[in-house]
This record gives sequence, C-alpha cells and structure tokens, in this order.
Amino acid sequence: MRDGWFDENLETFVKTMRDYKTMSPYCTDAMDISIGVMPNRPHKVLDLGCGAGALSIQAASRLAPIGGSVTSIDSSRRMLELLELERSSMKLENLDTVLMDGEFLQFEHDTFTIVYSAFSLVFFSDREKIVKEMLRVLTPGGKCVITSFPYNNEVFNIFEEAIFRLTKIHPSETIRQVVSLGDGIDIKRMMRDCGFTNATVHTTSHQWLMPIDVFLNFFRFNPIFKTFQSYLPECYQSNFVTMCREIIEEIFPDGTLDLKITCVIGLGEKPKTNGQVALNPHS
Ligand SMILES: C[S@@+](CC[C@H](N)C(=O)[O-])C[C@H]1O[C@@H](n2cnc3c(N)ncnc32)[C@H](O)[C@@H]1O
Repeated sequence: MRDGWFDENLETFVKTMRDYKTMSPYCTDAMDISIGVMPNRPHKVLDLGCGAGALSIQAASRLAPIGGSVTSIDSSRRMLELLELERSSMKLENLDTVLMDGEFLQFEHDTFTIVYSAFSLVFFSDREKIVKEMLRVLTPGGKCVITSFPYNNEVFNIFEEAIFRLTKIHPSETIRQVVSLGDGIDIKRMMRDCGFTNATVHTTSHQWLMPIDVFLNFFRFNPIFKTFQSYLPECYQSNFVTMCREIIEEIFPDGTLDLKITCVIGLGEKPKTNGQVALNPHS
C-alpha cells in the first residue's frame, strides 16, 4: 500500500489546514446537505481518504449525541496518526481509524448509510471503480458524497499562469483533469454512470485569507502542486515556486492572499431496490 501521499512537510500542511480552515468549511457544507445540521439518524459513516480528519472529526462530533459512528480510512499512516491525536484530544469514542487502501475496500456490501470522499477521489487511479465500490458498501437508500475543486479555480489559474510564464506555452487541459474531478456536470455523470440515483451537484465557496508565505508552504509539497510542476520541462521545475510567488505578489502586493475558492459537491443515492444496478462490481 502507498504511504507518504504527502512525503514532506505533512505537519505544516495539516497545521495550516486547521489554523486557516482551508478544507473544513467545505466538509461542513458536504455534511449539511447529507446528514443534516442536526442529524436525527444514527448514521454509519465511511470517510474514504480521510486524511487528518477535516470531515471525520466534524461528522463524529455531530453524530456522537445520537449514537452514529464514523469509520475513517486512509492509506497514509501518518495522516491517521494526526487524526488519532485530534480524536483523542476531543474524546470522540465513535470514530475509528483504519489503515486501508481505498482501491480495495475491505467492507461487506450494505455496511454504511453515508460514504464521503472529501477531496480524495481525485488521487485514485481508477475513479469509477472506487465510486462503484462506494455504491457497494452503502445500504440501499444510502448516500454518497464526493467533493472536488472544479477545473476552473483561482489556485489552478495561478499554477497555470506560472507554467505559461516559464515556458511561453499554454499548459494542456490534461493537468486539470488529473488534479480535479471536473465541474458539477462531470461528477454528476460519473455518479449516474456508476449506478447512483437522484444525483445532484452543489457549489460552495469560501474565502482563503492567509499570508502568501503560509499559502506557498501549504501548497508547495502538495501532490496537486507537484502535478502542475511535473508538467514543466525539468530545467524550469526549480523555478516554479518562485514564479508562483511572483504572480501572487502581483495580485496581492500587501502580502496577504485573499481568494474565494469554489468547491463542487456531488450527492447521489444508492437505489432502494437492486433494479438494474450490479451491487457487486467484482461479479
Ligand atoms: C487531499 S487529502 C484529503 C483529506 C481529507 N479528506 C480532507 O478533506 O482534508 C487526500 C487523502 O487521500 C488519501 N489517499 C490517497 N490515495 C489513497 C488510497 N488509495 N487509499 C486511501 N486513501 C488515499 C491521502 O493519503 C490523503 O490523506
């Protein structure tokens, strides 16, 4: 199994994520439209690619008073260790962490009432296979929630501009397809194609307000940043961070990045009857 999704600087990444709330507001939105602000059912939640727990911690806190539970899986042992620290400091007894490759979900059919993939599906090699697996482990009528930054967003625009300024060539669309699940319509189509019903898409935006240095340290070791960087000819790669900084400083000369970042949230339901949907993708 792959560990070290984030080889370098993981602690800084997670600290920035928590201090500046870069991911948690989107996770809050994803929960609001699925389990609800005040859930009235003791859901069994699976958080696929949970990372340090931006979604898991909130879900477990919401579900604790009514007996719901959260199973958080990730292929990175270090991510799970950081999540465990947070879990125990918050004394959340209803959250379990499991080291597991999401490409091979080791759960029975019909196990969970809600399955989330918050900003993780994009890192899987066979996305459709995983979405079918999400369907398999859900109970009939259960909900699948998938979040992604869309193709068009301010951060990707900065990275692409840096590639253009360094090479004088417009980057290919392929990069965005690697680092994003696409726009709402793409996520909705994928959910439908994988057997979900009542698929809807929600768009939500939050402000990222932080010193430029903090932003660059947050992103420079991130696989998304590294993907953009890897599309550069080798001779330009070491200048990528400096070029990104130059562009950001032009936009925000006072040294504080202030961007409204949009996220798309796909929501689908497992059909209540078997119908034409193959519940076991392995059969
Ligand atoms: C961008 S982080 C998202 C973490 C978290 N859901 C959040 O919103 O903060 C992506 C996560 O997916 C995990 N991941 C990537 N490939 C995986 C795999 N094959 N199985 C399980 N987790 C995986 C990474 O380890 C990482 O923690």
